[in-house]
Amino acid sequence: MIKFVSNKGGGEAVDFETAILDGYAADGGLYVPERLPQISAEQLAQWKELSYKELAFEIMSLFIDREIISAKDLRSVIAQAYGTFEKDEVIPIPKLKSQENTYIMELFYGSTLSFKDIGLAFLVNLVDFFLQRKNKKLSIIVATTGDTGPAAASYIAGKSTMDAWVLYPKGMITEEQERQMTTLHHSNVHPVGVYNCPEGGDDLDVVIKKLYANQAFKEKVNLSSVNSINWGRIMIQTVHYFYGYLQIADTMGEGICMAVPSGAFGNLCAGGIARKMGLPIKTYIAAQNKNECLKRIFNEGVFSMAPIYETVSSAIDILVPMNFWRYLYFCVGGDTQKIKQWMEELDKNRTVRFDPKTWEAYREGYLSASVSDEKTMELIKTIFDAEGYLMDPHTAVALAVANKLKEDIGDCKVIVLATAHPSKFPQIIKQSLGVDSLPTAATHPSIEKAKVKSQKGYTADHTHLEDALLDAMENHWAQKETA
Ligand SMILES: Cc1ncc(COP(=O)(O)O)c(C=O)c1O
Repeated sequence: MIKFVSNKGGGEAVDFETAILDGYAADGGLYVPERLPQISAEQLAQWKELSYKELAFEIMSLFIDREIISAKDLRSVIAQAYGTFEKDEVIPIPKLKSQENTYIMELFYGSTLSFKDIGLAFLVNLVDFFLQRKNKKLSIIVATTGDTGPAAASYIAGKSTMDAWVLYPKGMITEEQERQMTTLHHSNVHPVGVYNCPEGGDDLDVVIKKLYANQAFKEKVNLSSVNSINWGRIMIQTVHYFYGYLQIADTMGEGICMAVPSGAFGNLCAGGIARKMGLPIKTYIAAQNKNECLKRIFNEGVFSMAPIYETVSSAIDILVPMNFWRYLYFCVGGDTQKIKQWMEELDKNRTVRFDPKTWEAYREGYLSASVSDEKTMELIKTIFDAEGYLMDPHTAVALAVANKLKEDIGDCKVIVLATAHPSKFPQIIKQSLGVDSLPTAATHPSIEKAKVKSQKGYTADHTHLEDALLDAMENHWAQKETA
């Protein structure tokens, strides 16, 4: 049985169910499995013909003991999670016509049109399964830069076991993303638009950490989170890396490059873990906009927090790629004391310089670069004009960076992870294409429907957010208890 420990080394090792239901580890660290399952080349070859859902079942079975969830129940959680996706294959991977050797892995066919649906559809259903079995309820809190919030709210909506408290920086996400949360009228969904977040979504994470540290409150409302701090998100996100590879590689062992628009490093941490499990990815590209924290980590060996910029790829406007700390655990031989020291150093000084050995260990197989808003928008237009394929700005960041690093990547197939549907960013699409009305490719029926629905939600100022949440969450919990 694989046990789960904090990457900061505190507390006891816990079983899978506890790690999933807790979110954060007891010492404020991130849960990691004590060891990673290993996949042989023969095993990979046997998985070649599997559908996404079948593959998810195989890979999840390596992490989750049958005593915790039976094969039948795991299959049913996966079927329920992906049954509502728009495409039967869940993740289509078209090839670009206007560029050689380039594939787009479309991760945005879930209910809220971003790759967050891939992780949250599974995780929320799994949490619901555990809670029903335990006859327990949770208050789930998440912070969002625009896509996690809608996905969490949408999959939690109507579930009797959970409430979703979804914090977003007011004015820093698109109206379409906001409406995906505020037009859900279920009584267990509570969007909170937060004014005055100078550091965007990172400001909200700070408040969530404080709530977690408040033991009395945490116990009173059964607080948990499904942000990518939750191991379940990372674990299920390993599957799309395996799936993409198996779909596109001609032979098992072929070196392939994957380019990923990166913010909190949740997606790419899963990619790194998949490779450590045996997936033969030659190069991962951590693609960034003007907020270049990961670029500094990989290219300079320095984790430092610079001022945040608002960009056209707003979901990756992030200062602190939290999941880098989780990935590091697997690169330093599980040395939790070192990770704890570095995390504390970052909190204190806003910068950490890694020693050369550590830097070399974690950057192996990764490249990173950034791209300006101008180049991102230019590429959206170039590809649309050339072949009618429309990318959202985050996907465009990944493709632009992959093109920029062409020489370093060498001669191999490139899979670009398309993390959102363009209909979530209509203003940027219009600006990029230089048009007043949107092409059909930039529209989606669910976005159109949300435009004419009434909205509900809270607003709060960042300065009072902690108190406002303590009050609202405790009251709601008490009302539910007495109902
Ligand atoms: C559309 C989109 N692309 C990319 C990312 C970055 O993913 P991660 O934070 O896991 O690096 C996000 C996450 O916020 C997103 O919403």
